[in-house]
Amino acid sequence: MKQTLMLKVDAQQPDIKKIQAAADIIRKGGLVAFPTETVYGLGADALNPDAVLKLFEAKKRPLDNPPIVHVANADDVYRLAEQVPPKADKLMKTFWPGPLTLVFKRSATVPNVTVAGLSTIAVRMPLHAVALALIRESHRPIAAPSANLAGKPSPTSAKHVFDDLNGRIDAILDSGPTRIGVESTVLDLSVEPPLVLRPGGTPLEALKQVLGDVKLHPFVAAEKEVPVEKARSPGMKHKHYAPKAQVIVVEGAVPAVRAKVKELAESYRLKGVKVGVLATDETKAAYEADVVKSLGSRFNLAVVAQNLFRLLREFDAEGVDVIIAEGVPTQELGLAVMNRLRKASGYNIVKAA
Ligand code: TXA
Ligand code: MG
Repeated sequence: MKQTLMLKVDAQQPDIKKIQAAADIIRKGGLVAFPTETVYGLGADALNPDAVLKLFEAKKRPLDNPPIVHVANADDVYRLAEQVPPKADKLMKTFWPGPLTLVFKRSATVPNVTVAGLSTIAVRMPLHAVALALIRESHRPIAAPSANLAGKPSPTSAKHVFDDLNGRIDAILDSGPTRIGVESTVLDLSVEPPLVLRPGGTPLEALKQVLGDVKLHPFVAAEKEVPVEKARSPGMKHKHYAPKAQVIVVEGAVPAVRAKVKELAESYRLKGVKVGVLATDETKAAYEADVVKSLGSRFNLAVVAQNLFRLLREFDAEGVDVIIAEGVPTQELGLAVMNRLRKASGYNIVKAA
């Protein structure tokens, strides 16, 4: 297929010529990957059904799982949403631009394919100069799922995008690694109290401060598979974030986790399996495995989130067969991290005691 064009830009002050070149591609119905504060997105004109269809094809994404629509101006929401409840105004004022996606009743101007035939639409305004400039110069809302092949960990650098999608998309805007490292929080406002469908870059604690009452969908904190009929977000049904290696998550108090991870790593090694351990700074010295990587300090969950997807990809590059991952606390960004890890493991969770 065609060559994918690499456009390097500064994260704070991107070269407007390169942004305009990328925006031209979007306006003509092409596909451009771009950085956001969370992960890289794969953008298409949200109002062009053919372009959005190509987006699904490039990612090999099932057509029943709609992308998030990105705007550069809160007023654009009123064209995309049929109804904007007062709570949404408050959330947009507090958290936009930023890693919070809001689910609204959709308006008729949005093509069916963009919302996968649903009656709702997911919208967010990213906190990234490159993303905002691209949306503005395109003069279109941009539909953008994470720029990975379906099922793979989301890309936190342009290299990850290139590895998955080279030759399948028109261009990549590269401005280095992303700051948050996990995707946006998805919040459904069409129910009372509002419901978190996917934990992400905006912590639940911050949402509670603004909303008072907000609930987690049972999928979000799930420690085992939840029946598919209960899914409110199409993304919940699909296998996600999975590296090639089998993932096992070990959860519990730190000393018990350390002992259990050591025991599992040893027993796999004796079987001749190539083992990776996903550790933290506080515990990594305790492990002997083929590959040991640290997410960072257990006391800095923002850094843990930043490193998660990159490390999962690195384990694959090193060809480990099994990844034994330590659980981290489910506060703040830790909730998003644990949600991704548990999903990546297919809910293969070991409770250490
Ligand atoms: O941080 C992010 O959100 C990144 C960057 C690129 O913005 N985007 C991202 O998009 O993660 P994606 O498509 O990989 O994930 C979108 C999630 C999926 O779980 C999808 O099912 C859900 O949002 N979603 C989209 N439209 C929805 C809707 N109308 N109702 C409920 N969930 C929806
Ligand atoms: Mg995704």
